[in-house]
Amino acid sequence: DRHLLGIEPLGPAAITEILDRADRYVALNRDPGRHADALAGATLINMFFESSTRTQASFELAGKRLGADVMNMAMQASSLSKGETLIDTATTLNAMGPDLLVVRHPHSGAVNLLAEKVTCAVLNAGDGRHEHPTQALLDALTIRRAKGRLHRLSVAICGDIAHSRVARSNILLLNRMESRVRLIAPPTLLPKGIEGFGVEVFEDMEEGLRDVDVVMMLRLQRERMDGGFVPSEREYYHRYGLDHDKLAFAKPDAIVMHPGPMNRGVEIDGTLADDINRSVIREQVEMGVAVRMAAMDLLARNWRAAEVPA
Ligand code: CP
Repeated sequence: DRHLLGIEPLGPAAITEILDRADRYVALNRDPGRHADALAGATLINMFFESSTRTQASFELAGKRLGADVMNMAMQASSLSKGETLIDTATTLNAMGPDLLVVRHPHSGAVNLLAEKVTCAVLNAGDGRHEHPTQALLDALTIRRAKGRLHRLSVAICGDIAHSRVARSNILLLNRMESRVRLIAPPTLLPKGIEGFGVEVFEDMEEGLRDVDVVMMLRLQRERMDGGFVPSEREYYHRYGLDHDKLAFAKPDAIVMHPGPMNRGVEIDGTLADDINRSVIREQVEMGVAVRMAAMDLLARNWRAAEVPA
């Protein structure tokens, strides 16, 4: 495919191909003597219409490690503030001839719309509540490296599911790879139509965490709550915040994940987040660079294969 817009269109073989290639980039990134040139001569533009630490920095590093020229657009300082539309902004940048646009946008579907209007490859770096495909892929790589497989695992995703593109992409990917997903959340933080997601739903942490292999915690996404119900942090931490006591309901070797940014003392206890025997949060960040290298490398192979020789 020309773009990476979501997990939705990816089958198990495509997911495995990205993860296998990312595994090789993990090894390369740990060896300072090695280098890659899969994007030599290519130009990548990062367009982030919403704040980011991990995703923007890792796409920039991934592009540079593959030899691309990387430009980070400061979207707040762009002509959007003078009334230019998203599509006009994208087609303007597209006219400068980039090979890859990496786009994050607060509105669900905005990245797909933009991808229809440009001639280069587009990677979705998170759109509203819709999808965050490279996050799900880096989470899958982290799980596969910790557990040795992606099938027949029990994965609990806990917290603000309703506003989470990370949850949505992870549910799609884990179902596709034949793992079982449990969602643990208060009813107010579950999306409408949850019955169609192919998941089990729990309101209680003790029940939901019982014997799971993986516990994935999510932040309360206040920026997307639109004036709706916002739980008190104290009450929320008491019922849904993960600490060592609640983790004891999961399997003894269950791993703890968080896509970041995390709010210590709200959805996760700080000492558990830092416990290297249980938490793989740092590994997730490392896998993020490798997965983004793999995704861009594979897109570049697709467009080079499609090029007509002169
Ligand atoms: N996980 C994630 O998307 O983090 P950032 O918002 O910092 O990019």
